[in-house]
Amino acid sequence: MNDHIRAQSTTVGVQQEYTPLLVTLPGATDPVDVYTDEGFRLLSEVWTKAGWQRKLSYELTWLGVPIIQIPEDILMMQELLHRIRPAIVVETGIAHGGSAIFYASMLELLRHGRVIAVDIEVRQYNRLAIRSHPLSDRITILEGSSTDSTTFAQVQEHCQGASPVIVALDSYHSREHVLREMELYSSLVTPGSYLVVFDTVMDLVSDAPNGDTSWVNDGAGTAVREFLAIHPEFEADSYYNRLNATYCKGGFLRRTRSLI
Ligand SMILES: C[S@@+](CC[C@H](N)C(=O)[O-])C[C@H]1O[C@@H](n2cnc3c(N)ncnc32)[C@H](O)[C@@H]1O
Repeated sequence: MNDHIRAQSTTVGVQQEYTPLLVTLPGATDPVDVYTDEGFRLLSEVWTKAGWQRKLSYELTWLGVPIIQIPEDILMMQELLHRIRPAIVVETGIAHGGSAIFYASMLELLRHGRVIAVDIEVRQYNRLAIRSHPLSDRITILEGSSTDSTTFAQVQEHCQGASPVIVALDSYHSREHVLREMELYSSLVTPGSYLVVFDTVMDLVSDAPNGDTSWVNDGAGTAVREFLAIHPEFEADSYYNRLNATYCKGGFLRRTRSLI
């Protein structure tokens, strides 16, 4: 039977003859079987573009506070925090505070650790929402640009002697800003821990109707590639991208060693 094929060795978890579910994606000449690794990867990319257009990441709340993430990335951060058990999570980009409260929730469950959260502008009602939250004792809010030397010095002070430290960068996503943040904040990440760069997906969604073609060379993804080229002490850990649906593709960077 022509429309039945034996599972390829690259096909995940399929052990019987099956009917391929073929889709032809725009720009492709051949259809792809969604049950293969390649099909799943391509379909995930299409889902990511469509979800970006629908602003899916603006749909969620964490313990009542808006969190600007997609569920898969929140779950991956949960796994990372559980594994690393950080003494400090540094976050740049607070917005409403949902992610800071999410990190604080994890630290509360792990019974140790603090969140140092930085934003260039913390609106009064967002500050109040965080301050009045039951988990607020675990969160320090710093207002100022993340790349400002005074702000960074304050963050450094909070991280003094703390280990492990995880850094999550989710503020302004231009290549220049993210690269500058990476240069500064990577120094806080302890060996074995992670620097997580959000919105590396900008390359992929640059051609979505609400995207911007300039993101191909001027976004967080470009910053990560340039950073990794000159920082051998960090490597991308694709384990945290294994769900495929992510806005942090290639953005989970593990610090393998100290700089000598
Ligand atoms: C994508 S939102 C953060 C979302 C948040 N992490 C969450 O998951 O809910 C980006 C935030 O970065 C902040 N921001 C923009 N430029 C910044 C800068 N130079 N330094 C620090 N924060 C900045 C904005 O004010 C905004 O609140």
